[in-house]
Amino acid sequence: MPDFLEVLKTRRSIRQYKHRTIPKEIILEMLDLCRYAANAHNSQPFRFIVILNTDLKKRLINAMTARYELDLRRDGVSKTTIQKIITHSKTRFLKAPVLIVACLTMEDMDHYPDQERQRCEFIMGVQSVANTLQNLLLIAHARGFGACWYCAPLFAPDTVKEVLNLPSSYLPQAFITLGIPDETPPPITRKPLEDLIKILE
Ligand SMILES: Cc1cc2nc3c(=O)[nH]c(=O)nc-3n(C[C@H](O)[C@H](O)[C@H](O)COP(=O)(O)O)c2cc1C
Repeated sequence: MPDFLEVLKTRRSIRQYKHRTIPKEIILEMLDLCRYAANAHNSQPFRFIVILNTDLKKRLINAMTARYELDLRRDGVSKTTIQKIITHSKTRFLKAPVLIVACLTMEDMDHYPDQERQRCEFIMGVQSVANTLQNLLLIAHARGFGACWYCAPLFAPDTVKEVLNLPSSYLPQAFITLGIPDETPPPITRKPLEDLIKILE
């Protein structure tokens, strides 16, 4: 197991995977670990749908890309460009050995009578889901797997809910793809630390 700080520094988004999948027990072990993330009130408002069934995955991705295509047409994007984008998007998800849909449920979060505090509570829910997902990316990397976070479900929540028959309280937030890496992304640059922080002494 590599050093924790080294894991933090070397994790990268991996979008190309080898054909082999990850055994279900290992996926469960990674999900078990990621839920220890800090989260609002310990309400644990995150839910994970692990899609291992190829037909179901195809149905989901086809429905989502059909929806995406409509949005692109409305944006006035040319037919050729749309075709390229859709093919690229489909390939990415269909070739990923494991596809996880991360959802937020507000059921066990606090409820406020006013919109402003309810909005804050919703943000806390979203932050809590994001925290577990960052854990998942780090755990996958530490275990030698590759992972990537995709925002696609945020843009087609109704489609995701319908195809996967999710409970009405589930709010799809992200896809996480997982697999054995088949690429080594080049080093990435980050903004200088001094641009991101302000020390008040
Ligand atoms: C909220 C969020 C949404 C993201 N959505 C996408 C996405 O839709 N497609 C994609 O290729 N990568 C997506 N990513 C991955 C980022 O592009 C990636 O983390 C960023 O470029 C930094 O690269 P690194 O993860 O290799 O350090 C997303 C990451 C986050 C945290």
